[in-house]
Amino acid sequence: MTPRVFSGIQPTGELTLGTYLGALQRFVRDQTTTRSVFCVVDLHAITVPQDPGQLAQRTLDTAALYLACGIDPATSTLFVQSHVPEHSQLAWLLECTVSFGELSRMTQFKEKSDRQQFVSAGLFTYPALMAADILLYDTDRVPVGDDQRQHLELTRDVAERFNHRHGDTFVVPTADISAVGARVMDLQDPTRKMSKSVDSPQGTVLMLDEPAVIVRKFKRAVTDNDGEVRFDPATKPGVSNLLSILAAATDTTPEALEGQYQQYGPLKADTAEAVVARLAPIQARYREWTADPTALRALLVQGAEQAHAVASATLARAQQSLGLG
Ligand code: TRP
Repeated sequence: MTPRVFSGIQPTGELTLGTYLGALQRFVRDQTTTRSVFCVVDLHAITVPQDPGQLAQRTLDTAALYLACGIDPATSTLFVQSHVPEHSQLAWLLECTVSFGELSRMTQFKEKSDRQQFVSAGLFTYPALMAADILLYDTDRVPVGDDQRQHLELTRDVAERFNHRHGDTFVVPTADISAVGARVMDLQDPTRKMSKSVDSPQGTVLMLDEPAVIVRKFKRAVTDNDGEVRFDPATKPGVSNLLSILAAATDTTPEALEGQYQQYGPLKADTAEAVVARLAPIQARYREWTADPTALRALLVQGAEQAHAVASATLARAQQSLGLG
């Protein structure tokens, strides 16, 4: 049977090269051999304070970026989480299935709530909403970054518990942790993952960065002093990161590339060029989509209708299992 894939991206700011090479690039490739559902998770975004106008804009922009990367609405479903009310509805049922203790052990909650003046209850129950996202679509596979591994394990536990208590209701999904995404490191501190949440503007390449900016960031990338181009992430994190990025952007492997370079300069220049070549057509399509918000909104309405058709059946099943309605 065709595997069903679900993934969600928060509409909170610009996406990085790491998200593209580790996630989006693969989503686009896999969409022909899977049944893929992609969701802009605006309800997750409001677990922390957001400016309403900015949230609305970023939600549209994130959807535009998915499309610009090549997500094809004829093959995949693309929609906005808050347009499909079943997400909130199932989330409540799952909040009553997951325990306080389990939610308390989530490291992302601990990190995000640390030293904050106001911690919303939604930030605490965030994983139940994420489980709802996934379980509503009978998902087999969830491609996520390593930081989401714990949430995925919780989703599996919750699905299994619900099925055990109330009879077979949900498909139990498996996590599909990307190796490449986990390996795209910050250009200024190559021992740390490239991330938009870390304050390292020079070390982070954004998907919408101008070509000249991308070239500059690679030119200044931190390497080492031994002058040897070799793929060895443990002792040569900077050079290995460049090789990983170049490999991912040219569909080859770091091992196949390392012998082709004697110096860091040309490696940096070629990596920058390959990244610019990958991102330029995406940036052009992104500008086309954002220039036509009416078409974009219409497409998201259709996506929400498709999603709703599946989600409503799953929710009804869960409600029935619980003796609701
Ligand atoms: N929590 C994920 C993140 O921060 C986003 C997300 C929400 C998600 N729902 C999801 C990812 C469902 C995969 C599947 O990256």
